[in-house]
Amino acid sequence: MNNPDPIVPKKSALSLFSGESDESPFAIFAQMRAMGSVVSVPFPVAGADKQAWMVTRMEEAMRVLKDHARFTVDPSTIDGHGDIRQTLAGGNPDPSAPPTFFTGKSMLSVDEPDHRRLRGLVSKVFTPRYMEGLRPRVQEIADELLDRVQAQGEMDLVKDYAYPLPIHVISDMLGVPEADREQIHVWSAAIAHGLGLGRREPGVDEHLRAFGEYTAQLVADKRRRPADDLISRLIEMESEGDRLSEAELLSMITLLIFAGHETTSNLIATGAFTLLDHPGQLEKLKSDLSLVPSAVEELLRFNGPATIAGPRFATEDLELAGQAIKKGDIVIPVLKSANRDENQFTQPEELDITRTIHRHLAFGQGIHMCLGAPLARVEGDIAFTTLLRRLPNLRLNVPRESVAWSFTLSSQGITSLPVAF
Ligand code: HEM
Repeated sequence: MNNPDPIVPKKSALSLFSGESDESPFAIFAQMRAMGSVVSVPFPVAGADKQAWMVTRMEEAMRVLKDHARFTVDPSTIDGHGDIRQTLAGGNPDPSAPPTFFTGKSMLSVDEPDHRRLRGLVSKVFTPRYMEGLRPRVQEIADELLDRVQAQGEMDLVKDYAYPLPIHVISDMLGVPEADREQIHVWSAAIAHGLGLGRREPGVDEHLRAFGEYTAQLVADKRRRPADDLISRLIEMESEGDRLSEAELLSMITLLIFAGHETTSNLIATGAFTLLDHPGQLEKLKSDLSLVPSAVEELLRFNGPATIAGPRFATEDLELAGQAIKKGDIVIPVLKSANRDENQFTQPEELDITRTIHRHLAFGQGIHMCLGAPLARVEGDIAFTTLLRRLPNLRLNVPRESVAWSFTLSSQGITSLPVAF
């Protein structure tokens, strides 16, 4: 049956997906799943004559993410639809600013064959084997960070551990100088917090411009003085005789920097909070640290960093789970909801670090499935193992209710997590 009327309260759906809500999204997701696997919601931009759909269950979300013929990430390829993506992001970017992953063309925002070319180039370097080979360096960074705080008996787990670990890992890989990393964090955080579906905070363009200008300068430096790092290799690289254009290179590097640390920081911070909030599970994990990889998968399933995959757009009139979807409609796979799908998991609202998970959608699915997933898993494994091995008395240092949450691009994260040990 086709039901075009929005079925969730307008305010709550919009604020949730724009990242402005501080409600727990999981109750709303459960409500939406009970209503259907494909539900109509208000379009994130006022006045648009399009329909928006949230895909709440695993099977249908996978169908959308894997059907690259009927769903595109690039609405400008649909006749007469222009580039609604920027409208969804709250307006057009400043055309005089250098391209970034957000304003330019990155692998995330294009379909085949461009996607294959862009991802193929970076995949030559970014192999699962290479990412696995980073273990010793990730371990070194985790230990250095804890060395700095161990004697104090307390720290802010976000500022002192969850945020710096991934930014150092990705910056080492790319060749971003140590002195610039704090500034990059400031830009990334401002961009992540300043953008949501249909929302763009004032000032975010300034940060995008500064991030783009910085990256353009870094690339120019690497052209002059190549080093043994990923940016220098991307500059050199040719794929089937096809070099990256300068705009593509800048979009790709800013994407790797941004995607490579915001999400993983969020996994470590939210994951640590979730474990502290489930003392039975935490004890089980501490008594057998070989369970950490399985705990990481469960933390990704239970409350992973990405609320939604990027919006997809129907390339033709079609039907999905009984709903008639029109060409050009926006279709949003809700990853956090699919990961609590009662048809896929027993007791999905429970955290169980020993759960056997055949599949979750925290890294997406299909051709755009996260390129950095093997790296995120290595970082998650080392971050939690090192934390619990070295600080077995880890506990919250503030009342649970006063833990500060913030809202990142279509996601929720913790801004500060004071702990004692
Ligand atoms: C826990 C950490 C992470 C999570 C939860 C995560 C999540 C995701 C998701 C859901 C997508 C797909 C988006 C879509 O289909 O619209 C994605 C894509 C991507 N991620 Fe991650 N990510 C994480 C870490 C990383 C890391 C460490 C990197 C490394 C640089 C990275 C790089 C990328 C890239 C380049 C894409 C685009 C892939 C494509 O379009 O082909 N991510 N990520």
